[in-house]
Amino acid sequence: MADLSTNLCGLKLQNPLVLASGPLSWNAVGIRAAFAAGAAAVVTKTIRPQATVNPKPHIASMGRGSLLNTEGWSDLPAARWIEQELPSLAGRSGVLIASLGHTPAEVKQLAGPLAEAGADALELVSYRAEDAAPMVAAAKQIISVPVLIKVSANWPNLLEAVEACLRAGADGVTAIDSIGPTLRVDVETGRPLLDAFAWLSGAAILPIALRTVAEICLRHDAPVVGTGGVGRAGDVVEMVMSGATAVGVHTAPLLRGLDWFGKTLARLERWLDEHNHARLSDLRGAALPHLREPVPCASLTFAFDAETCTHCGRCVTACAYAARRLTPEGEMLLDETVCRSCGLCASVCPTGALRVK
Ligand SMILES: Cc1cc2nc3c(=O)[nH]c(=O)nc-3n(C[C@H](O)[C@H](O)[C@H](O)COP(=O)(O)O)c2cc1C
Ligand code: SF4
Ligand code: SF4
Repeated sequence: MADLSTNLCGLKLQNPLVLASGPLSWNAVGIRAAFAAGAAAVVTKTIRPQATVNPKPHIASMGRGSLLNTEGWSDLPAARWIEQELPSLAGRSGVLIASLGHTPAEVKQLAGPLAEAGADALELVSYRAEDAAPMVAAAKQIISVPVLIKVSANWPNLLEAVEACLRAGADGVTAIDSIGPTLRVDVETGRPLLDAFAWLSGAAILPIALRTVAEICLRHDAPVVGTGGVGRAGDVVEMVMSGATAVGVHTAPLLRGLDWFGKTLARLERWLDEHNHARLSDLRGAALPHLREPVPCASLTFAFDAETCTHCGRCVTACAYAARRLTPEGEMLLDETVCRSCGLCASVCPTGALRVK
């Protein structure tokens, strides 16, 4: 059976799955349930000195595995986390990461008490890119447990912020937070979902998360918790191939239930076995050497297998230049004088009958 374990900043994770910060990790009971369901690590809901008060409602499904939210940080104050929730998790089965926001002053106040209360690591998070490195520097002066910095793809200078955080001593990076502000409108009522600009998470943000993880990993060797839009075992593999050391997730188990963890781990193991990979960690960064600037090159050549072609016609429909034709006898014809080698026809083929060689 394939080895799923990974090492995050010196902390051994039994598998790559980290429950990212959010409503499922709102208190010790939620965190214990996530460990029991199979999460190797759990990040608490973000802790600040005072509890937040959320608007009602503050989470809405957008369909297709994605959510909008206007939720703030933890609705429990820091004192409750330090005195009750974290200490009650002693003897847990996984790695406990305390999420701490949002300013350097709050880090100075709470990093020490949260580490003493039992957190294995801290994840610092801020809405402002310019606060990230000072928060890391403040934490590293106080605590010896690993410090992760959570970054947002909303930041225009994301890579500069990551660089500054690593220079300030961050042990790892969590990428990414939910994306926004965004907007959806319910056309039946004419009202915006949640009556506000809101933050987007889940399947819709996976490609942005993958790109961000890859950009960081192309430049730095630091461990990255690739987070955003993961919903299937294949998405976990994509995150690791894009450079992630561990994989964070919140929307998928929130929508589908905590047994998402066990099901996804079983599918991940099966996929690795079927593809003869002994260790998930062997795949880390596999996609990165293939990232390149688009360059002019020779025309594509195609392989066509008449046996597996179902004559669905999708490849013909998808060609903007009408370069393809499928004859009634099942012969695939290509007019090379108009084909631009864009590759879309092979990409839409559902059976693999048409492939780029
Ligand atoms: C309802 C909700 C609340 C969240 N609250 C927090 C939070 O308190 N702190 C934080 O760092 N991230 C928070 N997040 C962001 C998630 O940790 C995660 O980075 C983001 O949702 C992308 O992952 P996903 O697509 O798997 O959900 C929240 C996400 C959701 C959906
Ligand atoms: S590669 Fe692009 S242009 Fe050529 S046949 Fe396929 S879809 Fe048409
Ligand atoms: S998309 Fe694939 S299966 Fe469908 S007609 Fe084209 S080659 Fe055949």
